[in-house]
Amino acid sequence: MASTASPHDVAAQGAQVLVASNRGPVSYTVSEDGSLQTKRGGGGLVSGLSAIGPEAGALWVCSALSDDDREAVRRGVGEDGVRMLDIPADVHADAYNGIANSVLWFVHHLLYQTPLEPVFDAGFRRQWASYETYNRAFAEALAEEAAPGAAVLVQDYHLCLVPGMLRELRPDLRIGHFSHTPWAPVDYFGLLPADVRRQLLRGMLGADRLGFLTRRWADAFTACCDEFAGGLDGTEVGVHGLGADGDFLRARSHEPDVDERMAALREEIGAAPDGGARRTIVRVDRTELSKNIVRGLLAYRQLLDDRPEWRERVVHVAFAYPSRQDLAVYRDYTAEVQRVAREINESYGTPGWTPVVLHVKDDFARSLAAYRLADVALVNPIRDGMNLVAKEVPVVSDEGCVLVLSREAGAYAELGDDAIVVNPYDVLETARALHEALTTPAQERAEHTKRLTAAATALPPAQWFLDQLQALRGVQPS
Ligand code: F6P
Repeated sequence: MASTASPHDVAAQGAQVLVASNRGPVSYTVSEDGSLQTKRGGGGLVSGLSAIGPEAGALWVCSALSDDDREAVRRGVGEDGVRMLDIPADVHADAYNGIANSVLWFVHHLLYQTPLEPVFDAGFRRQWASYETYNRAFAEALAEEAAPGAAVLVQDYHLCLVPGMLRELRPDLRIGHFSHTPWAPVDYFGLLPADVRRQLLRGMLGADRLGFLTRRWADAFTACCDEFAGGLDGTEVGVHGLGADGDFLRARSHEPDVDERMAALREEIGAAPDGGARRTIVRVDRTELSKNIVRGLLAYRQLLDDRPEWRERVVHVAFAYPSRQDLAVYRDYTAEVQRVAREINESYGTPGWTPVVLHVKDDFARSLAAYRLADVALVNPIRDGMNLVAKEVPVVSDEGCVLVLSREAGAYAELGDDAIVVNPYDVLETARALHEALTTPAQERAEHTKRLTAAATALPPAQWFLDQLQALRGVQPS
């Protein structure tokens, strides 16, 4: 991120712009010799903060996520413009794994198998108390660091209680909150215990302004407030559809490491029996339960059954990168993805053709290589806040690609007109969509890709962030 021009001023007078998120822009690893290695991350918030310039006096408040991060905080190691909170490991685990990822993520993505779950028992209540403690640690740190009247941008479902807590501590601040996930429909949000759902909504309504990725999620939130919290209570709700960073992606995807990965992938994909290039159906996901990778594989298998002419002529390139591996249900899901991919390869593969090329180890350069090679991009989540892969593949693909897109992805609102749209639960429909995508004439494919690229890059990350900041500064303080 942009380091502050004069950290001294920030320390003396407080920061003018603050961002709060569970995962921050840096992480640390203690090496064998005991020294600390720093790793910097990317993403929309990093670009946004760089765009406001060093004179803005920005501070990013985040949580230590590992023992090595905690060690860095204890040693006083830190980056300019970042304050990492040393929240006790057990409190963090309950708040992050227990509440944020096992309850709130499930509620907003409609993931429960309701005959048996959720169960809101004493264990849940213990985790909820940790979620409150963890949110309070953020609110207190922000209250301590913010200059009078500063703008605070709180991120995501991890920190729903922060706006309300911070409002009490510092009524002078402009407080915004942005949800990067979908928002649950009223009946599903209603699964939560009455006091918890009210606390979540009232916590968020402590903000002056709430941001969502699409109108659909904003409306769902408003409906929940009407049902469970007596309305929005003066809080403004806005929509900011985060787009892809076209300039960065185009440049990065032509660096030598991506070319190397392309050569390796071409080798894995192989050539069709007539010697021509095999077609590719590409998907790249963090392996979250909402991504629907297994049904994607089932649809591909259906395609090979329904349209045997595609055998030996197409490869499904599927990258399913690890996410939230502390949770057994995520690990099991990755194992299921691997099992189904293996089963397809065993049933249909030939000595010269591996129908599914699956990789589960994160490699950004290889993702870009796959984007460049994509004939078809498969993005079929059960439900997704936005899905940036749907926006990135058309921008990067060398020959243009056809997008098969779930109507439940936030990106559908902006890209649906130029995609082949599917119901993510309908495997037969998805198989037909894959066939249609593979047979789309070149001219049509080029036209769709052009329009998809324009829509996908309409609101690049830096502008997305600046718009929110400007809107927050424009609202009347509550
Ligand atoms: O992709 C949605 C999202 O909520 C992002 O906003 C956020 O960065 C991420 O998921 C959280 O993931 P993790 O649990 O890996 O930090």
